[in-house]
Amino acid sequence: MFPKNTWYVACSADELTDRPLGRKICNEPMVFYRAAGGVVAAVEDFCPHRGAPLSLGRVCDGQLVCGYHGLVMGCDGKTVSMPGQRVGGFPAIKSYPVEERYGFVWVWPGDAALADRALIPHLHWHDHPEWAYGGGLYHIKADYRLMVDNLMDLTHETYVHASSIGQKEIDEVPCKTTVNGQEVVTSRFMENIEAPPFWKAALRGNHLADDVPVDRWQICRFTPPSHIIIEVGVAHAGHGGVNAPDTHKVYALVTDFITPETDTSMWYFWGMARRFNPTDAALTAQIREGQGKIFSEDLEMLERQQANHSAFPDRRLLKLNIDSGGVQSRRVIERMLAAEQAASGRGAPANEEVSA
Ligand code: FES
Ligand SMILES: [Fe+2]
Repeated sequence: MFPKNTWYVACSADELTDRPLGRKICNEPMVFYRAAGGVVAAVEDFCPHRGAPLSLGRVCDGQLVCGYHGLVMGCDGKTVSMPGQRVGGFPAIKSYPVEERYGFVWVWPGDAALADRALIPHLHWHDHPEWAYGGGLYHIKADYRLMVDNLMDLTHETYVHASSIGQKEIDEVPCKTTVNGQEVVTSRFMENIEAPPFWKAALRGNHLADDVPVDRWQICRFTPPSHIIIEVGVAHAGHGGVNAPDTHKVYALVTDFITPETDTSMWYFWGMARRFNPTDAALTAQIREGQGKIFSEDLEMLERQQANHSAFPDRRLLKLNIDSGGVQSRRVIERMLAAEQAASGRGAPANEEVSA
């Protein structure tokens, strides 16, 4: 269950080279490519001739050519030509609104008439001289909402990421969740603690002492449909925490764009934008490697959790206070789904078990 009248990240811009890229999003097989002038385009990954995936074809002079019998597809889903055939009566396939922005390609899987490019979230750190960014992509065989739960409740760090960012104080300090319209924020502030290994390395990466007590913060911000940006960092204790001057802290954003592939699989675009020592490319690579390893630890947990849910779909699950960020985020998604279904005349969906 996922909203479709919204923007999802389809791929990173550098995934789109001179070849078509096939990717299923919201249960729809799509093919992305660079049309004339390098402008991104997306159509159904289904050739109207015999149903071959167009992603197995190639891009010639900015046009998508089916790899089976040479049909040339236009970015609007209408067949342009086919060797030796008249194509006027060929049925059109679906084309999708797409936009390349902030190093990503964004796609609107739903009603193209409703696609408003102003709704693409503004990623202020992109190409900003005070910021550096590194990230990656994981394919995970789990309902995308399990990742929303995961990122809106960071108590799991103590257990899943014990050797890098986990520490007992995460369990000991309660988190607070607030809802502002469609935005859900869960935050936790830990004071006068020892920095865990990942953050000690980050302090060293910013030429700051790593052997003194720190204040640590985690501010998880969910916005529709399933984007989660987490303000994270540590500051030398007693200097104001998240508001400490840059000379005493390492401050970053964990960026998570979660795109449903099917009901039980997702594309997870993870990354970190940091606002310290931005020109140090080696530090960017080191942080990216560390973060990739940390998120790979979530991957197994979520896939095995999904397998349990699929095997026992009727089991009731528990909701604790630590789950409130995920629960509230799921409510936002459910309201979007209800609005979409009401607008399409299908009525409200059956009430979803938010802890499922
Ligand atoms: S299936 Fe694409 S041209 Fe025949
Ligand atoms: Fe995690």
